Amino acid sequence: MAKIKTAIFPVGGLGTRFLPATKAMPKEMLPVVDKPLIQYAVEEAAEAGIEQFIFVTGRGKSAIEDHFDHSFELEHALAAHGKEEALSLSRSMLHKPGAVTYVRQQEPAGLGHAVWCARHLIKDQAVAILLADDLIDSNSGPGCLSQMIAQYESLSHPGGNMVALMEVEPAETQSYGIIQPGVRSEHNSSLVEVKGLVEKPSPHLAPSNLAVVGRYIVEPGVFAELESQERGAGNEIQLTDSLAKRVGKVPFHGLLFQGERFDCGSKLGFLKANVAYAMQHTSLAEPLKSWLKNSRF
Ligand code: G1P
Repeated sequence: MAKIKTAIFPVGGLGTRFLPATKAMPKEMLPVVDKPLIQYAVEEAAEAGIEQFIFVTGRGKSAIEDHFDHSFELEHALAAHGKEEALSLSRSMLHKPGAVTYVRQQEPAGLGHAVWCARHLIKDQAVAILLADDLIDSNSGPGCLSQMIAQYESLSHPGGNMVALMEVEPAETQSYGIIQPGVRSEHNSSLVEVKGLVEKPSPHLAPSNLAVVGRYIVEPGVFAELESQERGAGNEIQLTDSLAKRVGKVPFHGLLFQGERFDCGSKLGFLKANVAYAMQHTSLAEPLKSWLKNSRF
């Protein structure tokens, strides 16, 4: 089986939950402490062995392209002032020439539509998909996508589809893709067979409380299903629906990954992520803790 070397980053969404901050700035550029969300996702992918990075962008998202490119003016100024550390930080997100591709989604018509926009850029092999909104802190262990690829490659019948999973409160199922679980692996209780999945079901219709987090490994059959452009929940073309159509045709697993996921598509999740990441920052943890303790809040 070919190694998973390509990842798709759908970054064309409007970010309406973060207005006015995201009126002129991509939501994926919102920083958690000092790094934009998209960079965390790209670093997670690189750590997992990804070599080809495909961004599905939209209008108003050019800051993402600039972020992963040289900034000659900035680099020149930093070099002139001998600021070597800042210079290497600014250059650290550069990829090998040709490793990054941008494809434009003309209208945000759903996650499935965004992924489908990258169809001509993928070969006939499995690819990873990462949603930058879902920031996953793997507590210095292997990143979430790394964990998934390791499991994917060690399956007795390799191939098929895989999603990252976490348990949610039953009342929250309407915010996620929810799986219908089958048997758990005998050797690994965190690996769950997926018997079905449904996008944003109301709690009384949800097949479980196991929710899909924004990390996927998808095989080419999913792209074939996306061709139908069928609209689903929220009148959007849902990735979940095309994945669901592959159940029973190819292996399908969910991984209850190690780590904590922050929903950075919501204000509260974003604030929690900032506090959690600041607490891991040597120069910020103590002053922040003491401010929180003594503050008037
Ligand atoms: C998307 C997916 C959903 C998944 C979620 C994870 O929804 O459609 O299945 O559970 O990401 O964050 P969104 O949050 O974009 O509405």
